Amino acid sequence: MATKIKNPFVIGGYVSAEYFCDREVESKELISAFENERNMVIVSPRRMGKTGLIEHCFHHKNIQKEYYTFFVDIYATGTLKELVFTLGKHIFDTLKPRGMKFVEQFFATISSLRPAFKLDSITGQPVFDIGIGDIRQPLLSLEEIFDYLEKADKRCIVAIDEFQQITKYPEKNVEAILRTHIQKCKNSTFVFSGSQRHMMQNIFFSASRPFYQSASMLNLEPISLEAYTKFVDNHFQKAGKMVSNECVERIYHLLEGHTWYMQSLFNRLYEQLDSNEEMTLALVNDVLHKTVESNKAVYQNLVSMLPERQKEVLFAIAKEGKAAEITSAKFIKKHGLNSASSVQSSVKQLLERELITKNDTFYLVYDRFFGLWLSETYGTGYRM
Ligand SMILES: Nc1ncnc2c1ncn2[C@@H]1O[C@H](COP(=O)(O)OP(=O)(O)O)[C@@H](O)[C@H]1O
Ligand SMILES: [Mg+2]
Repeated sequence: MATKIKNPFVIGGYVSAEYFCDREVESKELISAFENERNMVIVSPRRMGKTGLIEHCFHHKNIQKEYYTFFVDIYATGTLKELVFTLGKHIFDTLKPRGMKFVEQFFATISSLRPAFKLDSITGQPVFDIGIGDIRQPLLSLEEIFDYLEKADKRCIVAIDEFQQITKYPEKNVEAILRTHIQKCKNSTFVFSGSQRHMMQNIFFSASRPFYQSASMLNLEPISLEAYTKFVDNHFQKAGKMVSNECVERIYHLLEGHTWYMQSLFNRLYEQLDSNEEMTLALVNDVLHKTVESNKAVYQNLVSMLPERQKEVLFAIAKEGKAAEITSAKFIKKHGLNSASSVQSSVKQLLERELITKNDTFYLVYDRFFGLWLSETYGTGYRM
């Protein structure tokens, strides 16, 4: 049954194909990788749509029929133990709705996690009930988890989101251990996604690292202006609301087409407009300023926590919008910065804090609303 929702510009998780814009090329590539058993890496700044894309492909008819799919977010894990816990718990949660038989098979193979198996005293439903501290032999449990995937009666697709986290674990050889398991696992295909480009590239494209060349890379860019315009037109039209292409285009440029920010603004604009009304630039300006201002406290706090040098570089990037050649004499002079080497080290810190992102040619404040707020507060401001 199709899910009906009030506002078609969804900013939570994935709903259905109807509310999902484009990504046709990327979906094809990902599905073809699944069907041909190639592991994939997906990299993009946060909120560009990695999770959405994976979910979308997992909902594809053939994939649902032929595969077991697992989506595990490891952003919050800080040790191998926590990774094992998260994987185990997630696989359990995915199997639970399929019934007791699946749950029993799970604990039969992953016997080191058997103590986690309890029946809820009220509902009688199976629950996964241990703490992370109860995982006494993470390496054994990990081996059993992969063993379980290997024995499944269908092929498995396992997506591990925010995969770069594994480089922060204190244990030694985590990459090598995982790589060995994954290589041996013939019954599963893996998708590794992450938002820290530099770290992801190091994991998969440094010749000295275990995961070297073990997966192909999909760089997730913003949805194209054409596709997004079509998507907006379609949903506005269905509700009898009107919006000009020029309007969509201006918003797209202001937000660099960054998916979540586009969705978030269009969600509000859609709400503001009644049936038979047409969107005006004045309305967009108003809604945009209110949206940006509503985050003021967070942004002020972010800025106040930055060391002076990083602050200066962040302001300079925000003023430019897209900042290229930031270590050039021209850029340094224009923004009254210190030296090329100090800009370089500040940029490195800002990237690590995920306040800015970088593509091949320029740097950009990652949070588009923050970027606009900075330009309003410390620069010349912005208008639609
Ligand atoms: N193709 C799309 N069409 C519409 N909304 C999308 C699309 N991709 C992502 N979104 C929305 O944008 C937001 C950010 O996407 P998400 O997949 O969580 O990004 P990431 O995993 O890269 O951080 C989510 O709210 C999601 O619903
Ligand atoms: Mg995500």
